[in-house]
Amino acid sequence: MSRLAAGVVLVTAREAPLSEDGPSGEDAGMTATSFLSVSLDPPLVLVSVRTGSRMDDLLEEQPLWAASLLTESQRHIAGRFAMKGRLSDRLLFEDIPYRRGEITDAPLVRGSLATLECRTEQRVAAGDHTLVIGRVLAVELPAAEGGPLTYFRGRYRQLD
Ligand SMILES: Cc1cc2nc3c(=O)[nH]c(=O)nc-3n(C[C@H](O)[C@H](O)[C@H](O)COP(=O)(O)O)c2cc1C
Repeated sequence: MSRLAAGVVLVTAREAPLSEDGPSGEDAGMTATSFLSVSLDPPLVLVSVRTGSRMDDLLEEQPLWAASLLTESQRHIAGRFAMKGRLSDRLLFEDIPYRRGEITDAPLVRGSLATLECRTEQRVAAGDHTLVIGRVLAVELPAAEGGPLTYFRGRYRQLD
C-alpha cells in the first residue's frame, strides 16, 4: 500500500470536558492518510484509526472531530502529529495557526486546502484499526496556495 499515493490530512478533536461546567479538555491531532470519501448523500467520510491510540480513545468519547487537508507547505505539521508522545498536546499546537470549528470546537488548520467538521455516525472494528465514519457537517474551502501534501513510498511528496 506504500505504492498507493495518498493525500495527507490532520484529524483533530478536543477532549470533552469531564463535567458540564468543567474546563475543556486538551486538543489532539493525528496525521492520517487513510481518509476517504464514502457517501455523497448523506455526505460521509471515513478515517481508519489505530485501535488503542490516543486518537482512538478520544474519538470513542468525543463524536465531534475535524479533518484539515494539508498542503505541501504543511509537511512539518504532518511530521509533528505523526510522532508519539514526544511533546504535550499543548506544545504540539502552540505555533500552528488554527481556528476552532464552530460545530466541533476542534482545531482547524489555517492555510489548509479544506477543512471538514464531522460527527461520528458509525465505528467499525477492523483488525487493529477502527473505521470511524463521520457525517460532514461543515466544509470550508479557503483560497489556499499550493498543491496537496502527498505520501508515497514512505515519503512526503509534492505533486510536481
Ligand atoms: C504519513 C502518515 C500517515 C498516517 N496515517 C495514519 C492513519 O491513517 N491512521 C492511523 O491510525 N495512524 C496513522 N499514522 C500514524 C499516526 O499519525 C501516529 O501514529 C499517531 O499520531 C501517534 O499517536 P499515538 O501515540 O496515540 O499512537 C500515519 C503516520 C504517517 C507519518
